[in-house]
Amino acid sequence: MKAIQLTNGFGFEELSLQELEIPAPGPKEVLVRMRAASLNFRDLVILNGIMPVDIKFPFIPLSDGAGEIVAVGEGVTRFQAGQRVATNLQQRFYAGNPRAEVLKNSLGGPLNGVAAEYVVLHEDGIVSIPDHLTYEEASTLPIAALTAWSGLIEYGGMQAGDTVLLQGTGGVSIFALQFAQMTGARAIITSSSDAKLERAKALGAWQTINYTEVPDWDKAALELTGGGGVDYVLDVGGAGTMVKSIHSLRVGGTVSMVGFLAGLSIPEFDVTTILQKAATVRGSQVGNRDHFENMNRAIGIHRLKPVVDQIFSLDRIGEAFALLAEGKQYFGKIVIQI
Ligand SMILES: NC(=O)c1ccc[n+]([C@@H]2O[C@H](COP(=O)([O-])OP(=O)(O)OC[C@H]3O[C@@H](n4cnc5c(N)ncnc54)[C@H](OP(=O)(O)O)[C@@H]3O)[C@@H](O)[C@H]2O)c1
Repeated sequence: MKAIQLTNGFGFEELSLQELEIPAPGPKEVLVRMRAASLNFRDLVILNGIMPVDIKFPFIPLSDGAGEIVAVGEGVTRFQAGQRVATNLQQRFYAGNPRAEVLKNSLGGPLNGVAAEYVVLHEDGIVSIPDHLTYEEASTLPIAALTAWSGLIEYGGMQAGDTVLLQGTGGVSIFALQFAQMTGARAIITSSSDAKLERAKALGAWQTINYTEVPDWDKAALELTGGGGVDYVLDVGGAGTMVKSIHSLRVGGTVSMVGFLAGLSIPEFDVTTILQKAATVRGSQVGNRDHFENMNRAIGIHRLKPVVDQIFSLDRIGEAFALLAEGKQYFGKIVIQI
């Protein structure tokens, strides 16, 4: 079978297409013919050796994939051959809140990932995918969609009538926009690009703000909500956005702290910012399998279609990573067809 590996070390130049043996499923495991994988910022920082995960070479990257079960091992009860499934990033995160041991079992680092034609997975580490989705679309669900779903709906409690502020038009924020639309919440979304804001409007955004032209987007969000503030912010910027995210909140609002696209540390931070807003700031670790199954049910009922920007073949994975690394040349998700 064909697989992408980092053979000896980190970096773009270490990615290579290899011919490997098809693995066999052991007890409680299934063999999945992977059909598609999607890229996440996490894959990029792992590829570059920046993320502190214990990688053993040769290493197969990417955590998010979708495919068809072609064989099952002894004692498998949750699935059978022929079923269409997606991977769960954290293979042992089934329910409740994340715990330390859960985070050590992530696909695509430290565990081998899904950039391969065949992958063996534990039956507890996969979920069924909605019938109306292609494999390419379903491959976008495990991190980007589940992070938005868990942060806003499962842990956050977002409801119809709430207002949510979303940052940028990457994978997580576009799913969050679609879930806000699905829930009957209204979304304010920011972007550095007016053209992308137009696309976000077409997906149902209530208001848009160009964060390059309007650096005080927190004040703009307060104005748009009559001074009251938003119920939720999904913060993907980290250090560069967190203070403004809290400023944008209504009293008692919640920031789901997802990413660090705009930096890691805030040199001076007035902690009364949190007190004054009685804010909840919750760090995200994607979501558990129960959340994933709830989300897929909702996606199926509402026939939600993930926004896939570009699809690359497996041998063009380097180009796909280059597009991801560039940062702002896509809208939604980048997918690899396997
Ligand atoms: N902790 C978790 O559970 C978790 C899960 C998923 C993702 N993440 C992290 O969350 C972040 C977003 O993930 P993603 O998959 O959505 O990434 P992505 O698809 O790569 O998002 C890229 C987009 O982010 C926007 N952006 C960049 N800097 C920004 C800023 N300063 N303010 C507002 N928007 C900005 C840009 O939108 P425009 O081009 O429209 O300006 C850019 O196109 C990443 O840091 C990722 O590692 C964390």
